[in-house]
Amino acid sequence: MRSRTPHSEKFLKYIGSNWADRANNLPEVSAVAPFASSRRQAVAKQFAGELILIEAGATKVRSNDTDYMYRAHSAFAHLTGWGSQTVADSVLVIDARTTATNSILFFSPTAGRDSEEFFANAAIGEFWVGARPTLSQVAALLDIETKPLSELEAFIGDAKAKSLEDEEVAQFVSELRLVKDEYEISEMRSAVAASIKGFEAVARNLVDATLHERGERVVETAFYSQARIHGNNLGYDTIAASGAHACILHWTNNDGAVHEGDLILVDAGVELDSLYTADITRTLPINGKFSPIQKKIYEAVLEAADAAFAVAKSGVKFKDVHAAAMAVIARKVSEWGLIDMSAEESLQEENQLHRRWMVHGTSHHLGLDVHDCQQARKEMYLEAELQPGMVFTIEPGLYFHADDLMVPEEYRGIGVRIEDDVLVTADGVENLSAALPRKVEELEAWVISHQN
Ligand code: GLY
Ligand code: MN
Ligand code: MN
Repeated sequence: MRSRTPHSEKFLKYIGSNWADRANNLPEVSAVAPFASSRRQAVAKQFAGELILIEAGATKVRSNDTDYMYRAHSAFAHLTGWGSQTVADSVLVIDARTTATNSILFFSPTAGRDSEEFFANAAIGEFWVGARPTLSQVAALLDIETKPLSELEAFIGDAKAKSLEDEEVAQFVSELRLVKDEYEISEMRSAVAASIKGFEAVARNLVDATLHERGERVVETAFYSQARIHGNNLGYDTIAASGAHACILHWTNNDGAVHEGDLILVDAGVELDSLYTADITRTLPINGKFSPIQKKIYEAVLEAADAAFAVAKSGVKFKDVHAAAMAVIARKVSEWGLIDMSAEESLQEENQLHRRWMVHGTSHHLGLDVHDCQQARKEMYLEAELQPGMVFTIEPGLYFHADDLMVPEEYRGIGVRIEDDVLVTADGVENLSAALPRKVEELEAWVISHQN
């Protein structure tokens, strides 16, 4: 269906007339508003005397005249509190040129019934995609001054403005998200809860998956349905990796079969309307029972995860969480005779042989982006000490490719990752995804319990 509408003066008048007045009902102020306001104040303080523009970003063409689902830039979402309902191309201006800092949100409010956009613009017109909010509605929702996007250019005038393309700005707003505030922590809990519903749907569909030649897609879409029902979308493409596919770290084709007796690695997260996402992995025995070798590998990964949990607390360096997991991985592969040296030797910088079977890191910050705060400086991330309010993953794994001649045959084609989302508290960490079983017997029972 394409936009092919009449254009005569007479028609424009006709279609633009005799509509009931719009109800300009003002929404309640969002719970995020005071938090977003203090985040903007932090930006203004850092860039005192300057004009900062934070762009939500444009839509992206998928093919011809259809776009990808729109998603605002995370920095924009963080500093405005506007999530899945963000109008594309919006711009947040933090004007710190004077001491009375002012933030203004520029966006295109819904067009009038007297405009061609109203009925003829298939991309953004009200007849095609529904009405956008009014300036006063967004002002009320986010407790921020709003202006039409058409006035942005005149507002900036000849002033020099900095945007996210400025390295200092990108770094600062990224580091501003390293410690989550109360609102964010509550959203992270909800994102995890929604994702657990997704994993339950996966478990309910495992038998069905074995009956379909693209059973991984059965698993992927079981999770996706929950993401769309309970949230905005997926936080990232689901990895539904059965059998040897589990060794491909970002296997997102998900077009393989799901065989009874294999493991399936499912790495998935629901992104809420606020745009916060979880990032959880479970490696499930498809028939509800681990084989002895599957169990041996799974429990080694679990031990590595538990070691990471045991060291993770306020004051410990972020990178030491990884080190704790790697000490276990190195010990296991050495004990199993997969490497020709002791764990201690392998852990030395110049060796690292154990990393053949786990090339990725153990942890990353998590929030609005699945890999959150990536523009942060190293000293604020890897080298930094954990602080209460930080949220990150613990996700060790072991991956033995089907063609890995370095390991005995029985290991080949088995990949395991266990990924949980954790919150640093005053006296340790809280596993936000603890409601999803991780121990062998509990996981087996959980899979079985969802099969009827
Ligand atoms: N799902 C991507 C990751 O675990 O980092
Ligand atoms: Mn992750
Ligand atoms: Mn993941």
